[in-house]
Amino acid sequence: MSNNEIIKLSTGATINQIGLGTWLSKPKEVENAVEIAVRNGYRHLDCAMIYENQDEVGAALKKVIPSVVKREELFITSKVWNSSHQPALVEKELDQTLSQIGTDYLDLYLVHWPVAFVPGQGLNPRHPTKENEAALDLQTTLVDTWKAMIALPKSKVRAIGVSNFTIGQIEAIIKATGVVPVANQVEAHPLLPQDDLLAFCKQKGIHVTAYSPLGNNLVGKPKLTDYPEIVKIAEAKGATPAQVLVAWGAYRGYSVIPKSVQEERIKSNFQQVTLTKEEYEAISAVGKNNYTRFNIPYGYKPRWDINIFDEPEEKNATNPVNIGA
Ligand SMILES: NC(=O)c1ccc[n+]([C@@H]2O[C@H](COP(=O)([O-])OP(=O)(O)OC[C@H]3O[C@@H](n4cnc5c(N)ncnc54)[C@H](OP(=O)(O)O)[C@@H]3O)[C@@H](O)[C@H]2O)c1
Repeated sequence: MSNNEIIKLSTGATINQIGLGTWLSKPKEVENAVEIAVRNGYRHLDCAMIYENQDEVGAALKKVIPSVVKREELFITSKVWNSSHQPALVEKELDQTLSQIGTDYLDLYLVHWPVAFVPGQGLNPRHPTKENEAALDLQTTLVDTWKAMIALPKSKVRAIGVSNFTIGQIEAIIKATGVVPVANQVEAHPLLPQDDLLAFCKQKGIHVTAYSPLGNNLVGKPKLTDYPEIVKIAEAKGATPAQVLVAWGAYRGYSVIPKSVQEERIKSNFQQVTLTKEEYEAISAVGKNNYTRFNIPYGYKPRWDINIFDEPEEKNATNPVNIGA
């Protein structure tokens, strides 16, 4: 077992390969989880305004900075939410995030989704006439928001990037501005290997971070950690199923951000195991003929009536992403 590789970003900064996810933790859980994580060696934390718990991240950080780590030893990512895509709102929301986390700067700030919401009505505005739909802002373009990200002061964000962006969306914002995102955070696991996107990002020097590396259990489908094939490979290796799934991502060279609020899991997920080529291929085989993208907002309640990924589940969406290039 080796303990947590370091990866260099296009900016020259470094990021720890295994980070802690913080989405969908119940009140107080994330405060506890972040404290445990940092005390046990995690240095990479994944946050977002929409998780509505950045103040808890901040409370935990107060307990470990500077007694356990210096701020500079941490890599903190956060993300601007859809309701702050209008250029005048981007820095405003960043300031709120900085104040919640209790830090002067973020190491990485991402555009959370290639989707703008109508601002000023909370984080999840409802469509005024369609009960079960989110209120989309169809005027603000990805290029508008990306330009506002580029204009953010370096003193507040060391690097900027995107999340849930496709190859075409990334190409468009680069073409319009000449500025390449430092990172793209996307869903990636054996059922969604994202090979084309990875190859594209590699060619452009864009770091990839994989979210939902264990598959999430929101949709009532079995988690990848419960798949018999994964359990078998893990048992043969003397590792946990989560460790081999994290290792599968690490084998592919990107960073991985498993979320847990349970102490033993937080600790064991961080113990990096290394896969042989055969083990890597056996885990990859679990995804063959089993392509699954779990996180498609067209299926959310309320629905985002927009086609982001061009998946079959999105074919009835009314709106395309407003790229603006
Ligand atoms: N950019 C985006 O749009 C986006 C979207 C989704 C997620 N994310 C980020 O990525 C992070 C991770 O993704 P995720 O939360 O969707 O999914 P995940 O990390 O793949 O899976 C989390 C689930 O696995 C469980 N788990 C954790 N360790 C385990 C272990 N060792 N054995 C068995 N089960 C285990 C967790 O429960 P316990 O907590 O009870 O252990 C939780 O139910 C998020 O927290 C968030 O920071 C970003």
